[in-house]
Amino acid sequence: MPETFPVTPVRPDLDVKSPVRGMPPGPKMPMALQSVGFMVRNVPMMRRAQRKYGSMFEVRLLGFPKFVIISEPELIAQTLREKPNILHAGTGSPLGTVLGANSILAIDEDVHLRQRKLLLRPFHGERMQAYADEVEEIADQVMDDWPLGVAMPTAKSMHLITLRVILRTIFGARGASMTELERELMEFVEVGQRVVLLRFAHRDLGPKSPWGAFVRKREVVDRILFALIDEARIDPELEERADILALLVQATHDDGSPMTDREIRDQLLTLLVAGHETTASTLAWSLERLTRNPEVLARLTESVRAGEAEYLDAVFDETLRIRPTVSLAVRSVQVDEYELGGYLLPCDTRIGCNPALVHHDQRLFPDPDRFDPTRFLAEKPSNSAYIPFGGGIRRCIGSAFARMEYTAVMRRLLERFDLEPTSLPSEPWGFRSITFTPGNGGIVTLRPRS
Ligand code: HEM
Repeated sequence: MPETFPVTPVRPDLDVKSPVRGMPPGPKMPMALQSVGFMVRNVPMMRRAQRKYGSMFEVRLLGFPKFVIISEPELIAQTLREKPNILHAGTGSPLGTVLGANSILAIDEDVHLRQRKLLLRPFHGERMQAYADEVEEIADQVMDDWPLGVAMPTAKSMHLITLRVILRTIFGARGASMTELERELMEFVEVGQRVVLLRFAHRDLGPKSPWGAFVRKREVVDRILFALIDEARIDPELEERADILALLVQATHDDGSPMTDREIRDQLLTLLVAGHETTASTLAWSLERLTRNPEVLARLTESVRAGEAEYLDAVFDETLRIRPTVSLAVRSVQVDEYELGGYLLPCDTRIGCNPALVHHDQRLFPDPDRFDPTRFLAEKPSNSAYIPFGGGIRRCIGSAFARMEYTAVMRRLLERFDLEPTSLPSEPWGFRSITFTPGNGGIVTLRPRS
């Protein structure tokens, strides 16, 4: 299916001065079919709906209240900049039950701002470079085992790199605790992904039920995490440590009170879930796109080997434009009626800002199917047209971390190997509950550097 199509306005016939009460039109399929479509053919389904109903349409999903999808920059700007008491991001998020009640992804308003303030400090852009050497070291260890001259799926390897990076730089794990955590967390993430969107199945019906298995896995992970927090609290060298756990243990709220163990545990799990698969998928998508665009690949390889950073930065941005890894930035209506795009949406409606749709709008990104990093060299797109990291006061706090990590891994990869271009068709959009990942695993063939 072509990725490009003319974008129709929300409802050309609509007089926004007298908004319509209720939901915009959307696909008529039964809810169960739409839910399956959402999970297994997300992007094609969204594109079809956008073509037919315009840049604001309703989807009906099992286990969710009313849901609209938007892809018009003006509506996205309104939604992402709305006051935090009018649109929530945490309320009703399926992630709260999975990650814990204090998770920054599950809370709103003042409570959210308090946690966000504590988390933002350690993620400040300039601090990130201090982690780059550790990332390169971890990437090198994983790449040492990569086979050469054969087709290899990269997504899993990228997951291993990003998981180890988070364990080392965020959790401060070393040695035995690192090995144990790595094994347990991989399973935790795997099981969690299977259940997170199945809200109707969030009941513990014994160890064999999906939620029961998840809850038991979470108990194991909790024991290790609380032990790490305990160790950090009594570590005589805490102040010299650079990992984010060490900073959170020393952080205090405005009233001088420290973060509780439970708060720290919830945020650690949140950072893992928010930061590991997203970055791994971005790396895998980049390789998928680069091997299908030999000119971009050649220019990137040359520039990285010449020690330049600018073009690699643009490849990161362009990868996230053409293959955004997070499917939606979602808000939920907290007022009786919320006016958006000519509709009065009822309380509790979810509004999903869709990056995959807006990033392919040819009014905003000419020739949008073309993988062309140079579009990011000249000028940056607006915050409402380019939304891989969401926006407003919920914008991703790990974007600088992700860029640092991506850059360090790609630099090592291109310094060590030649990537073989391919004429194979594009990989489909794979959907793993929240993130998009190359459907065939991001297959590439590597050769020793010529
Ligand atoms: C390429 C990689 C990444 C992508 C595409 C990505 C994308 C996103 C998106 C779309 C959101 C929701 C924003 C909204 O609702 O407006 C988000 C939130 C968040 N991300 Fe990321 N992210 C990435 C990497 C990371 C990393 C590496 C971390 C930390 C280690 C991280 C931590 C977070 C946190 C804590 C939030 C919640 C912010 C809040 O609610 O205030 N992310 N991210």
